[in-house]
Amino acid sequence: MLETIELSVSYGAVQALKGMNLTVPRGEVTAVIGANGAGKSTLMRTIAGLVKPQSGQVLFDDVDITGKKPEDIVRMGMALVPEGRSTIPELSVDENLRLGGLWRNKQERGEARDQVFALFPILGERKGMRADTLSGGERQQLAIGRALMSNPRCLLLDEPSLGLAPMIVTQILELVSNLAKESNIAVLLVEQNAVTALRVATTGVVLNLGEVVKSGPAAEISSDEELRHAYLGY
Ligand SMILES: Nc1ncnc2c1ncn2[C@@H]1O[C@H](COP(=O)(O)OP(=O)(O)OP(=O)(O)O)[C@@H](O)[C@H]1O
Ligand SMILES: [Mg+2]
Repeated sequence: MLETIELSVSYGAVQALKGMNLTVPRGEVTAVIGANGAGKSTLMRTIAGLVKPQSGQVLFDDVDITGKKPEDIVRMGMALVPEGRSTIPELSVDENLRLGGLWRNKQERGEARDQVFALFPILGERKGMRADTLSGGERQQLAIGRALMSNPRCLLLDEPSLGLAPMIVTQILELVSNLAKESNIAVLLVEQNAVTALRVATTGVVLNLGEVVKSGPAAEISSDEELRHAYLGY
């Protein structure tokens, strides 16, 4: 389980997160939704150790990981898929995957790769091709696949729907949601696209200007007219 306790982050005068409390249980998807500038990427980057919080804590399976180095956090079982599909364009699908499990031994890496190909068969078909020849949806699958190569207990997905057709996004997120259940992974999904995110999530959290406005069962959040009008834009 991943938890943030009173997590605050500021960039100079801009306070991006204001005392955020969040719980992300294993085996399900927790969706944090909010508009541009709500603080979603800041939350992810802070959990992953890329941004230092001003105050508060990040606990991962009850271990305080606040302020630890990003590479140590990855080794503890946290994997971030950053905004904008961070695959390396000049490298092949296979080479991109290998980067995700660099410090694991060859056998573990082989097994993880087989699991990724079972989950996203298109990657197996395209394994020798350069990442920059893939479609947007395929590249997003590669970015997630690369994160899975480290055998994470917690997966952080920053706006996977960006630039993709809604049907593809739903397909990818449903796979991720099944994976969370089957492999008992804690998935934290941040999205502007509330409809899609709440469809696959168990719990929804609405973030506005660095503050949690509402959290609860995803179905409850998505049917709340007032919330929808005020923060979710649909
Ligand atoms: N490196 C930075 N330096 C200064 N301000 C920053 C930095 N990164 C983010 N911010 C500011 O912090 C606030 C939150 O940004 P953040 O990127 O976390 O939002 P977001 O919810 O991910 O938005 P988006 O939906 O556009 O990706 C914004 O006001 C943003 O301008
Ligand atoms: Mg963002």
